[in-house]
This record gives sequence, C-alpha cells and structure tokens, in this order.
Amino acid sequence: MFWEKIYFIVLVLLFVRLSTEFSVQVPADHGTCENWTLAAEANAGNCTKTGKRLHCFGGMANLHLMNIQKIKKIEQVILCGWPNTTFEPHSVLKHFPKIRILRIEHSNLTHIFNDFPDANYLESINISWTQFGYTRPTLFKRLHNLKYLDLRWNKLDHMEGPLILPRSFEQILLAGNPWNCTRNLKWLLSEKGAHVADRENLTCADYKYTGRHLLTVMQFKLNLKTECQNHPDLRNCSCTMHYIRRSDDGKSLTPIYAVNCSHLNLFNFPSYLPQNTSIFHATHNQIAEVRSLRDNSVYRQVYDVYLDNNRVQSIDVLEAGFWLNNFRVLSLKGNKLTRLPVYALDSALERNAHAARLYLSLNPWICDCKFTMKFRELLMKYHTIIRDSHNITCKYIEGDENFMTEVLTLERNDVCKLPKESKILPLDLLNGVLASLIVLILGKLAYDYYHYRKSGRLPWIVTKLP
Ligand SMILES: *[C@@H]1O[C@H](CO)[C@@H](O)[C@H](O)[C@H]1NC(C)=O
Ligand SMILES: *[C@@H]1O[C@H](CO)[C@@H](O)[C@H](O)[C@H]1NC(C)=O
Ligand SMILES: *[C@@H]1O[C@H](CO)[C@@H](O)[C@H](O)[C@H]1NC(C)=O
Ligand SMILES: *[C@@H]1O[C@H](CO)[C@@H](O)[C@H](O)[C@H]1NC(C)=O
Ligand SMILES: *[C@@H]1O[C@H](CO)[C@@H](O)[C@H](O)[C@H]1NC(C)=O
Ligand SMILES: *[C@@H]1O[C@H](CO)[C@@H](O)[C@H](O)[C@H]1NC(C)=O
Ligand SMILES: *[C@@H]1O[C@H](CO)[C@@H](O)[C@H](O)[C@H]1NC(C)=O
Ligand SMILES: *[C@@H]1O[C@H](CO)[C@@H](O)[C@H](O)[C@H]1NC(C)=O
Ligand SMILES: *[C@@H]1O[C@H](CO)[C@@H](O)[C@H](O)[C@H]1NC(C)=O
Ligand SMILES: *[C@@H]1O[C@H](CO)[C@@H](O)[C@H](O)[C@H]1NC(C)=O
Ligand SMILES: *[C@@H]1O[C@H](CO)[C@@H](O)[C@H](O)[C@H]1NC(C)=O
Repeated sequence: MFWEKIYFIVLVLLFVRLSTEFSVQVPADHGTCENWTLAAEANAGNCTKTGKRLHCFGGMANLHLMNIQKIKKIEQVILCGWPNTTFEPHSVLKHFPKIRILRIEHSNLTHIFNDFPDANYLESINISWTQFGYTRPTLFKRLHNLKYLDLRWNKLDHMEGPLILPRSFEQILLAGNPWNCTRNLKWLLSEKGAHVADRENLTCADYKYTGRHLLTVMQFKLNLKTECQNHPDLRNCSCTMHYIRRSDDGKSLTPIYAVNCSHLNLFNFPSYLPQNTSIFHATHNQIAEVRSLRDNSVYRQVYDVYLDNNRVQSIDVLEAGFWLNNFRVLSLKGNKLTRLPVYALDSALERNAHAARLYLSLNPWICDCKFTMKFRELLMKYHTIIRDSHNITCKYIEGDENFMTEVLTLERNDVCKLPKESKILPLDLLNGVLASLIVLILGKLAYDYYHYRKSGRLPWIVTKLP
C-alpha cells in the first residue's frame, strides 16, 4: 500500500516535470511531401497535374511538355524536393498567373533569391521542412492578397523585425524552427507579433536558452531593458541576460542578469540594479569604497562583482557582513589596497561555500612584519580561490628591497628584521667614521689657527710643504 502510493507520487511528479519541460513542443506534421522520393515522378524530376493542382517531385522537368493553356489555370502548386539550394520566385510564378496556393516542402532550399513578384491571387504560402534560414522583411511585401504563411519546420533562427505583410493578412506560423534567442526577437511580444498565431509555441534552440519558451525569454529581456533605461544611475550601463535558471522545484524560471557599468568614470556604485541581477561589472572607474555592498540591499543577490582598476583603498567595511559570506566572485585587481582584514576574510571564506574567485593583484600591499605573514598564510590557505596569488606583490617603499616581491615568497626574516640589527650596516659604520674625521679635522684647523695667532708659529705641516 505504502509503496504503491510512493510509486504513484513519483509517476505524477515525473509527468509534471516532463509536461513543463516539453509543453511547447509542436507535433510535427510532415505534409504532403513526406516520402516524395518514392513517387514514380521523382526519378525524372517530373510534375503531375490533377485538375487545377500541380504536384512536382524533385523538379519541374516535364513542365514545358504540358499544355500551356492548362498550366495557366493552375491554382495550387506543390513542390516536393526542390532540386536547388536557391529558389527564384519570379522564374517559377511566371508560369502560373492564377496561383492561389504555393507549397515548397522537404527540400534543401536555403535561400530565396529576390522578393516574391506581384501575384494577385496568391493567398497561401507554405515553406516547410527545408533549410531556409533567414527571411528578409520585404520577401512577401508585394503579395497583396496573401493571407496565410506557414514557415514551420525550417532552419529560421532570427528575424530582426516583423515581415511586411498586406492589410488583409491573417496568420503566420513559425514553430519548429531553431530560434536563436540570444538574438533580438522582442518584436514577437508586440502587436506586430500578433500575426504569429503560434508564437506561444516557439522554442529557443541556441546554446544559452535551449528548450526555453521564446516569449518568456523575450519578456525577460524586455523587462530588463525597461528597468535599465528607466533608472538614471544605469543610463550608460549595459544590461544583459546571462541565462535563465529553473528553480529547484522545477516550476518557475528565474532570469539571471548582468549589469556592466565599466569605463563610465563612476565615483559610486549605482544605487539601483534590476531585480535578479547577479553579476556586476564596474571596472575602470573611480570607485573608492565598497560600502554599498554592505548597505544597499540590491547588492545582496549580486554574487559576482568586478571592480578592477578603481580606487578602492580598503574592504574593512565588509567585515562580518552578509555580502562577504555569500559572494562568488570579487575582483579587485589594480586598486589601492594596502592591507586586508585578514581574520575577517579568513572566517568569511571558511563560511562561504559559494566563494569561487577572489582577485587581489596589482595593489600596493604594504609588506610589514605585522601584516605580511598573516596575509601570506591567507594566500596559501585559499590559493584555489585567490587565483592570482602568485601575482600579489609588495608596494614600493624607498629603500625596501621587498619592492615587487611576491608576497608568497617572503619569509619572516625578510619582513621582520630587528630594528637594531638593521641600523649597524657597513655603510652606516663608514658614515660614522667619516663624520668623526670631519669633526677632527675642523677641530685641528681651529686649534692651529688659534695657536698661530697666539704664538705666530706656523703649524708643523705648513713648514713641510714645498
Ligand atoms: C501547409 O498548408 C496547408 C494548407 O494550404 C496546411 O493544411 C498545412 O498544415 C500547412 N503546413 C504544413 C507543414 O504542411
Ligand atoms: C513514409 O514512410 C514511412 C516509413 O517508410 C511510413 O511510416 C510513413 O507512413 C510514410 N508516410 C506517408 C505519408 O506515406
Ligand atoms: C517524365 O515526364 C516525361 C514527359 O511527360 C515522360 O516522358 C517521362 O516518362 C516521365 N518520367 C517519369 C519517371 O514519370
Ligand atoms: C538534400 O540533401 C540530402 C543530403 O545531402 C540528399 O540526400 C538529398 O538528396 C537532397 N535532396 C534534394 C532534393 O536535393
Ligand atoms: C539552380 O541554380 C542555378 C544557379 O542559381 C541555376 O543556374 C540552375 O538553373 C538552377 N536549377 C534549377 C533546376 O532551377
Ligand atoms: C501549440 O502547440 C500545441 C501542442 O503542444 C497545439 O495543440 C497548438 O495547436 C499549437 N498552437 C498553434 C497556434 O499552433
Ligand atoms: C546565436 O546568436 C549569437 C549572437 O548573434 C551568436 O553569437 C551565436 O553563435 C548564435 N548561436 C547559434 C546557435 O546560432
Ligand atoms: C551618459 O553618457 C552621456 C554621453 O556620454 C553623458 O552626457 C551623460 O552624462 C552620461 N550619464 C550618466 C548618468 O553617466
Ligand atoms: C526575477 O525573478 C522572478 C522569479 O524568480 C520573476 O518572477 C521576476 O519577474 C524577475 N524579475 C525581473 C525584473 O525579471
Ligand atoms: C563592459 O563594457 C565595456 C565597455 O562598455 C566593455 O569593454 C567590456 O568588455 C564589457 N565587459 C563585459 C564583461 O561584458
Ligand atoms: C600574472 O601576471 C602575469 C604577467 O603580468 C600575467 O600574464 C598573468 O596572467 C597573471 N596571472 C593572473 C592569475 O592574474
């Protein structure tokens, strides 16, 4: 009884999971050209005429042998297995002035040369199961009576904007194409996208959004764009969607956004970021302090922060804060850091299971006895996180031979010399000797001068001069 229940629940869960994953998969309809190569006509690339319908298999080889008056009355043309990778609409349509329906299916067609010419009766076009990858907006512009377009099951991956279609146009189908949602397809959300009858069924096929519902992706992109444009602090930043994550219960989707405010001469963090922003770049700015990471709640969910080439002098304010215990990436290359709160950082990294990367090179680290050994220990303990630990070097201080030395290579003896020891160097000794000699000579001079005035006798050394 118990196990049956469990089994049932698992089945239901599995079903829910599958149905949410694949809810937008459209069943494939292979149309009238399926298995066309089996038709007798396919051997020669011939067409067959039945009433006002012309059905061609692999070409139109026998078209010129048919009664031209009867061809002129043809209303429906079905082209299975078009023999070329290109299709030139004019050269085909010129034979069929009364054509109402055109179908091109199961072909290796990749391009349509030139836009469709004026054709007053053409109201329905199907191009399906081909390699057709891109359609110009003007492709069907001159077909004034076009009502239906079926472009399903091709290789369409992008469409910069809506197609230009006549007023009386009714519907277009676009499902079954490998849409690249990294590209801009936001127009599908607008009124102009309403012609796309199956827009709810479109799915993405690019690496970033594989299997995602296209409209959901575009809606997230649109939300992000509006949020970014509406806040003055973000006006010159660029906002992009990083990816979409499915929540742990499998039910909802969360977009992950990245905001890039690099090279903008910023002095402060933006006071606002769009909801769901996890990645923030603000490199090459003038930011001097990181208080916002602690105080501004929008930064709580920002896990990756890149602040290279700013003027950050200290990260002490982050001590024991939420952010330091939860970040994933912090890059502080090329700032003005001289010291770190070593113990606080140590305990934060110990607690923070997400911490993946911390960059600290190209900062003027002060290599004194008190700080350096603790710092070196930290660098060794977290060398997998502090990826540039071998590039962390000491700041230049006049006379300090540790200038540009790797902190990791410093020993206690290098930074913790006793002050007395260091004073009595050979050079200092020489200086002392020289100074006392000068005093001695001056003293002798004064004495000689005094003696000469008093006794008139020249000093002994003068009598010996030539
Ligand atoms: C092609 O057009 C016909 C009507 O002309 C329609 O029934 C059919 O579903 C269309 N699409 C495909 C893929 O065959
Ligand atoms: C095409 O051929 C396959 C297998 O050869 C068959 O299952 C299918 O029914 C055929 N389709 C049509 C429309 O004849
Ligand atoms: C193709 O059409 C030509 C002319 O109608 C005919 O002679 C030939 O037998 C046809 N071939 C096939 C395989 O139907
Ligand atoms: C399309 O390409 C495939 C694979 O290259 C080939 O087998 C097939 O015959 C081609 N079809 C036509 C109509 O040329
Ligand atoms: C295929 O395309 C080439 C070049 O575009 C053209 O010369 C040739 O006539 C076309 N063949 C057919 C069957 O349309
Ligand atoms: C969307 O896909 C479903 C099947 O998943 C289908 O029943 C429905 O007709 C499709 N909608 C359109 C407009 O094609
Ligand atoms: C999708 O578009 C992006 C941006 O244009 C491009 O870099 C990427 O290679 C495309 N992906 C596919 C699978 O076509
Ligand atoms: C954005 O850039 C423009 C032109 O470079 C500049 O005039 C404007 O002040 C900048 N806005 C912000 C908020 O930085
Ligand atoms: C942030 O993600 C939640 C789902 O986790 C979603 O409901 C919300 O609309 C997203 N916000 C934005 C601005 O996209
Ligand atoms: C951020 O934007 C700057 C210029 O605006 C660009 O050079 C840089 O590559 C961007 N960084 C990322 C990670 O996209
Ligand atoms: C360390 O510095 C060298 C030379 O400047 C550079 O090529 C290398 O990429 C740096 N390594 C890291 C991890 O930053």
